[in-house]
Amino acid sequence: SPAQIGVTGLAVMGRNLARNLARHGYTVAVHNRTSARTRALVEEFGHEGDFVPAETPEEFVAALERPRRLVIMVKAGGPTDAVIEEFAPLLDEGDIVVDGGNAHFADTRRRERRLRERGIHFVGTGISGGEEGALNGPSIMPGGSEEAHAALRPLLESIAAKAADGTPCTTHVGPDGAGHFVKMVHNGIEYADMQLIAEAYDLLRTVAGYEPARIAEVFRTWNTGRLDSYLIEITAEVLAHTDAATGRPFVDVVADRAEQKGTGRWTVQTALELGVPVSGIAEAVFARSLSGHAALREAAAELPGPRRQVLDEREAARFADQVEQALYASKVTSYAQGWNMMQAASEEYGWGIDLGAVAAIWRGGCIIRAAFLDRVRAAFAADPTLPTLLADAEFAKEIGEAQPAWRAVVATAVRHGVPVPGFSAALASYDALRAERLPAALTQAQRDYFGAHTYRRTDRAGSYHTLWSGDRSEVSADI
Ligand code: 6PG
Repeated sequence: SPAQIGVTGLAVMGRNLARNLARHGYTVAVHNRTSARTRALVEEFGHEGDFVPAETPEEFVAALERPRRLVIMVKAGGPTDAVIEEFAPLLDEGDIVVDGGNAHFADTRRRERRLRERGIHFVGTGISGGEEGALNGPSIMPGGSEEAHAALRPLLESIAAKAADGTPCTTHVGPDGAGHFVKMVHNGIEYADMQLIAEAYDLLRTVAGYEPARIAEVFRTWNTGRLDSYLIEITAEVLAHTDAATGRPFVDVVADRAEQKGTGRWTVQTALELGVPVSGIAEAVFARSLSGHAALREAAAELPGPRRQVLDEREAARFADQVEQALYASKVTSYAQGWNMMQAASEEYGWGIDLGAVAAIWRGGCIIRAAFLDRVRAAFAADPTLPTLLADAEFAKEIGEAQPAWRAVVATAVRHGVPVPGFSAALASYDALRAERLPAALTQAQRDYFGAHTYRRTDRAGSYHTLWSGDRSEVSADI
């Protein structure tokens, strides 16, 4: 029987996605550039469902029922373009090409436009959850046309993770690049979340003097409350792990250099272009870069810092509680920045993204899955035009209650010389947003002074310039 869907690119993500589809009763055509992988998949996992192995692109395309649905699971960038170029001539009008890689949304927009001209639907799709998720239920973020989505929807819903209330973690995000855009922001938020967790760990270790095993316990406790999330859960697992070779805490034998494949960097680059401040994500990207700058770190290693004194047991317990509050408040602030960015892009590109629906499909399957995302969903469901998550009454109240602890933690970190770029950037963003007056007035006045860049006044309309090098009288700058 013809295959209902095909997957080309059978590295671990593609292979697991194909298995997930087959396990849900779909007949899946499978193809890989080197066919050894295709054969290995069928040999190892053929018993899990119906696979149709194809040796060549022609065989692969011929195996698919029409309109064809094929999923590309290859490296983002050049390799994805190469595969599209290879397959496009073999396809017919109405066929649907899904790109499940971590593509840049601008590439997706370009590819969608090209294929649309040929009558082919291109569905740039964010897939989150790593290899485990691909196999057992990822969060799936498809972009592209309504029509293509309607044809894919039953398949996507059956293989996606299910939220606690049973709803599948997938939705049609919006046209062309919308799916890959929200996946990119997901990863940016992932970076911010990981950085904040790392800072919390560092504070508990350095200031509270807790050992990793004990910090694992703290994270386990946090995971039963409002911080309940996959990233907190795996943090506890990692911290409790002992290195077999040395018997030391595993975290102590891992080199302290965090790498990145680039989606966090894309998020920040794109945010700069959109003019949306995402300081939490930016600090997380910079923290990773800094960690890898061996020469800079070595050159600065002897610079003076404060004398540190570990807190006593009672103070440490109190401090740990404050760190939970700081982590939560910083997390909400960073997530708010990610949502601001999706909101801005949705307006810029006319995507009509349902911001609550994005939260809903991140409740399960993806790396940032967390209990609190149900509340983000509820906040946008209650008010789809909410300008920022921080303005939601419930979040505002919680953060208001957490802010004294948040400030205490940042102040303590500064006093102890522990870097907390994530915590402090989030707090600065919170304070800047709530400020009645910002010193931006002075910045604008300076711009007028040295460059006649003009300013607006608080008391009347229009643009003005002061004749700084003349008699300092004010002139209207409106023509
Ligand atoms: C996911 C992950 C996944 C990947 C990260 C890693 O949602 O499943 O985000 O896409 O593991 O992109 O990113 P870095 O290598 O940049 O840390």
